[in-house]
Amino acid sequence: MNRSLSYVGILICVNSVLSYRAYQNLIPNGDKVPHPCNKRQTWEGVGHRQNEGGDEQNPFGIDFQQFREWNKKLCLLDSDGDGRYNGEELGDPDCIWKTQYDNVHLRTTNLSHPGICEPLDSSLCRKRAWLSCEASIDDCPSLKEKDTRNITVKMPKRKVPRQTTTYRCLLFEFPQDQDYHIVATKPVIDNKHVMHHILLFGCDESVEDITEDMNEPFTCGMIASPKCSSVIGIWSMGMSGECSHNSSGFRIGKNGFRKGALQIHWNNPDLYEGMTDASGMTIFYTHVLRQYDAGIMIVGQYWIDLQPKKKRVVVTGECSPECSDKLIEDEIYITSGYNHMHYLGKFFHRPIHYLETPVFFYNLFD
Ligand SMILES: *[C@@H]1O[C@H](CO)[C@@H](O)[C@H](O)[C@H]1NC(C)=O
Ligand SMILES: *[C@@H]1O[C@H](CO)[C@@H](O)[C@H](O)[C@H]1NC(C)=O
Ligand SMILES: *[C@@H]1O[C@H](CO)[C@@H](O)[C@H](O)[C@H]1NC(C)=O
Repeated sequence: MNRSLSYVGILICVNSVLSYRAYQNLIPNGDKVPHPCNKRQTWEGVGHRQNEGGDEQNPFGIDFQQFREWNKKLCLLDSDGDGRYNGEELGDPDCIWKTQYDNVHLRTTNLSHPGICEPLDSSLCRKRAWLSCEASIDDCPSLKEKDTRNITVKMPKRKVPRQTTTYRCLLFEFPQDQDYHIVATKPVIDNKHVMHHILLFGCDESVEDITEDMNEPFTCGMIASPKCSSVIGIWSMGMSGECSHNSSGFRIGKNGFRKGALQIHWNNPDLYEGMTDASGMTIFYTHVLRQYDAGIMIVGQYWIDLQPKKKRVVVTGECSPECSDKLIEDEIYITSGYNHMHYLGKFFHRPIHYLETPVFFYNLFD
């Protein structure tokens, strides 16, 4: 019984991987639609709001669902309202393409996304924008410095348990010969169907009372362990990585964190069996120390009551000056902020300026 269940699980899983690719074959140039934020990359799930498919449909996906095939009507619609009709965007301006097996000559240059109003920064599209181009981690200036080194910490490949939520942790050592600053992190995602978030923790000086083996994953809770509770790196769905503000970094090494813990959160709501994962994180560090040590402070509550049938619910929380005085003794500069909304949030990204420092707010739909 178990065996056949697991077989079904795998089938469904493979099926959902294939679904958006199967749709790609139903529209002209379906596998060549450029990503509006990065023209060298393609947008895989053309009808979806997320590049990798899944999630909600975009305006083109909604129109496609009406016809379930490429035809003249769908071709002549301008789903995203940017002034180019779908056929023009997808390289079939004469609306003659039928299937991928035709020899219809498609234009393969000057393609654009039929579900996203482009150019994104035009006044027309800003009004309709639902996509924001978060700067890619690959543009992080620190990655281009010659003194930046990296280590990749990955979970050894393990079975993902048949349960909704699993936290797994792995202890490892940072280089300890001198002080370094971590200046960027980049996720290494092995199985994107289960990866929900990755946290990197710094461990206090003595980790003697941690009984787990180094480099052997163990089941953990929301924090890796009482000794490894300082968050120094975050990845969550929708992020391409993290780039520290150029005047700060997380101190590791001789006088900083010498040991770290990687925590991954697997999400398996459909209780599939037989999936594996070996995700992790690449950590970029440098001996060229920045002016400030960085830290991450997590505040908030576990529960928010959303009253029914309200268009708008405002929840405020505050940390009184008496309280923050105890928490923060020195002057600090805020370089970025994240809203972590679990299943309820929608991704958005809003840089604001504060203390002459750009502050980035992310809503993570993790
Ligand atoms: C691309 O298409 C747009 C709109 O259809 C057109 O104005 C532009 O000239 C085209 N660019 C090239 C390089 O063909
Ligand atoms: C990590 O460093 C190695 C050696 O310098 C380099 O070859 C590799 O590309 C780096 N990895 C990443 C992800 O940048
Ligand atoms: C740091 O970034 C700011 C812009 O945010 C820039 O003006 C400055 O030159 C950068 N400093 C270094 C050392 O790269």
